[in-house]
Amino acid sequence: MNELIKELKNAKTPQDLDNIKSKWLGKKSEIKAQMDALRNLPADQRAATGAKINALRVQYENAIEGAKSELANKLVNEKLANDSFDMTLPGVGTKSGALHTVSIIEEKCINAMRRLGFVVATGPDIEDPKYNFDLLDIAEHHPARDMQDTFWIKKDKKLLRTHTTSVQSRYMMDLKGDESKLPIYIVSPGRVYRNEALDAMHLAAFHQFEGLMVGSGIKISELKGTIEFILKEIYGDDIKIRFKPKYYPYTEPSIGADILTARGWVTIVGAGMVSPKVMRNFGFDPSRISGLAFGFGTSRLAGEFTGATMRELYGMDLRVFKKLKGE
Ligand code: DAH
Repeated sequence: MNELIKELKNAKTPQDLDNIKSKWLGKKSEIKAQMDALRNLPADQRAATGAKINALRVQYENAIEGAKSELANKLVNEKLANDSFDMTLPGVGTKSGALHTVSIIEEKCINAMRRLGFVVATGPDIEDPKYNFDLLDIAEHHPARDMQDTFWIKKDKKLLRTHTTSVQSRYMMDLKGDESKLPIYIVSPGRVYRNEALDAMHLAAFHQFEGLMVGSGIKISELKGTIEFILKEIYGDDIKIRFKPKYYPYTEPSIGADILTARGWVTIVGAGMVSPKVMRNFGFDPSRISGLAFGFGTSRLAGEFTGATMRELYGMDLRVFKKLKGE
């Protein structure tokens, strides 16, 4: 035992201790030999001798385990003592993520519209042509339906919605012509898809949000007022806005609005008064009920807000984002 204790004292590494353990308790150890020799003893001596050997084995084991934990402590303490870790140094902060510019602009617009009484309505990205085109009076031969413009999912005759105006159709059809549910004020943000030639300013997927207000006595002056309100919320009161006539199959009259940017006038929204035909498609009587609708390009708003091209805006290059944020 003294011999073992001496060896344990001299052990410097966990490996030394493992070697000692196998020497004293392993297959070739003295104690194992004594155990094996038990079976040659007369039966009446076996139990007593066995118990003695066993007691010794337990002693060895305890001594070795004790030495192991002592050594482990010693090694940790040595490591701590030699480490030049300074608890008083300031920590390294982890960078947290941030909202995408498009999401920030989208949120701003929706919050502004909430203050006007609009509520958010959503629809699916994979859409039935009925909601994306038919109910909106976008005729079978309209160029927007072309293979060049629309991603068709031929298998089940669906498409990737080309505008958030599809949500208008869904929402209006859900009302089933019930005038008691009017007036409605909805805003529908989301992603839209166009099968267009790609360049720095045109991508196959981008964001829009749609506004729709339907009730009795809704006038075009409210449409202009609402568009101005939203644009001033984002860009401030000094933003230069110009309205112009446009054509959309589902509105009559139709207008567009441009804002003056470093790149010149940029069209940011298409809009109009819901056409009588579309109002009838939705199940309402256009002689009593009118509506205004507009579709903002959220991506364009965000692009103009930051000076980024569409490609940069969706490019996910952190360096560009930092630059845009002035970091
Ligand atoms: N859907 C049009 C677009 O994607 C935008 C638009 C125009 C929406 C007129 C409307 C509208 O609701 O009345 O360019």
